[in-house]
Amino acid sequence: PVEVFDLVIFGATGDLARRKILPGLYRRFLSGQITGESRIIGAARSEMDRAGFRELVAKAIAEFVAKDRQDPAVIAEFLDRLDYVSIDASKGEDGWHQLKEMMRPDVVRAFYFSVAPALFGELAEKLHSHEIANSDSRIVVEKPFGRDLGSARALNTVLASHFEERQIYRIDHYLGKETVQNLMAVRFANILFEPLWNSQFIDHVQITVAETVGVEGRGSYYDKSGAMRDMVQNHLMQLLCLIAMEPPYHFDPNAVRDEKLKVIRALQPVPAEDIVRGQYLPFKGAPGYLEDSENPESRTESYIALKVHIANWRWKGTPFYLRTGKKLRARASEIAITFKEPPHSIFDDAAGWRENVLVIRLQPDEGMNLTVMIKEPGPGGMRLMQVPLDMSFADALGPEVSDIPDAYERLIMDVIRGNQTLFMRGDEVEAAWAWTDPIIEGWESRGDRPRGYDQGSSGPEDALMLMHRDGRRWREIK
Ligand code: BG6
Repeated sequence: PVEVFDLVIFGATGDLARRKILPGLYRRFLSGQITGESRIIGAARSEMDRAGFRELVAKAIAEFVAKDRQDPAVIAEFLDRLDYVSIDASKGEDGWHQLKEMMRPDVVRAFYFSVAPALFGELAEKLHSHEIANSDSRIVVEKPFGRDLGSARALNTVLASHFEERQIYRIDHYLGKETVQNLMAVRFANILFEPLWNSQFIDHVQITVAETVGVEGRGSYYDKSGAMRDMVQNHLMQLLCLIAMEPPYHFDPNAVRDEKLKVIRALQPVPAEDIVRGQYLPFKGAPGYLEDSENPESRTESYIALKVHIANWRWKGTPFYLRTGKKLRARASEIAITFKEPPHSIFDDAAGWRENVLVIRLQPDEGMNLTVMIKEPGPGGMRLMQVPLDMSFADALGPEVSDIPDAYERLIMDVIRGNQTLFMRGDEVEAAWAWTDPIIEGWESRGDRPRGYDQGSSGPEDALMLMHRDGRRWREIK
């Protein structure tokens, strides 16, 4: 179990709290990781009492927790841990005294800002002026952490005026995904891969985060953001960092984040010809992006593919191809590392030869797959064929796999434990924007329009060319 805590969730009636944070806390409570002395205090604008909030959380659990994990007795106990205070961060002092009274001495205090970033400053300031936060308190902030370098710096400055970096937990939920962390275990707990992990042996890397959903009622946020800001600047960037970084000297928050930062700083500017942006088209009565975003003039991308170079000794000459998009053929996120040819083939009939590919699958069906060449069985002489060495977590770990905490659950537990390894540091976020900004400015100044692509496809045709012209091809999205 983690230490006893008081966790205050600002924005506790919002979508993220109902879908992820509160159901996640319930599951950790069910597993015994959160003990009965801990408390969760919802804070939001709505006038509501404790009973009303408990009802809201009970509904969220019924809706977002798997049926076989809904244990009425445990749910009742969990609801008993909840309290509520009505606070409007943009207005006056109401509620803050009450919140202060609720906080207990000698337990971990954490404050989750599940609200619009415009309110971060106000919340941080009030927590201080009312002496609710202390020097050991933690604050948790959600993406989007700014929309460019300037706004990210401004947010960092506001938070830094009330909290030290060691108290600030910037969430990128991809870092909480099981396989994403597994990436570090695979790289640094095995001798097999690391000697080959560089441009001498790796031909290229593909990172794909494909979604089947569209903008799902978030059109007004998404249209100001687009796939580059919404996914690449954070989630895909983090995946790229974990693949590309040097071994940290220790699995320690700052050691890991120092290495990730070096990768981000080594990212090269991306020229226009290495970027393909797309927007999904209407299909059989299903609205296209322009309708979903309620902006018929929109030039925002719901798909992006880019070829990225990392200018350092390890990666010079190995391109990283990134792509992510909505309304694609399947929900599939994976990292595929394609190795080079052996230096010389001793086989006369190398017709069956294929590169070794290591695929790390993030979702669904988390696991790893390495393709290797073997002899085709039978009397036909020495012919080669490719077979997979496949490890699906579900098969390898059996039913226990269903107890793997989801990304949010794990990250919230890390906040309570005071472990920042899986959270972005301020300088990392700023460096990521410093790379992203000129790319976006580039297409804005050129007036580029995204290409249309069919719903249920694997993205715009032009994205295929991005690889074809290099003599490579994207893996199928399935
Ligand atoms: C969020 C983005 O950060 O990640 C969404 O804002 C996206 O647009 C989501 O759909 C994807 O997360 P996951 O965990 O479903 O892959």
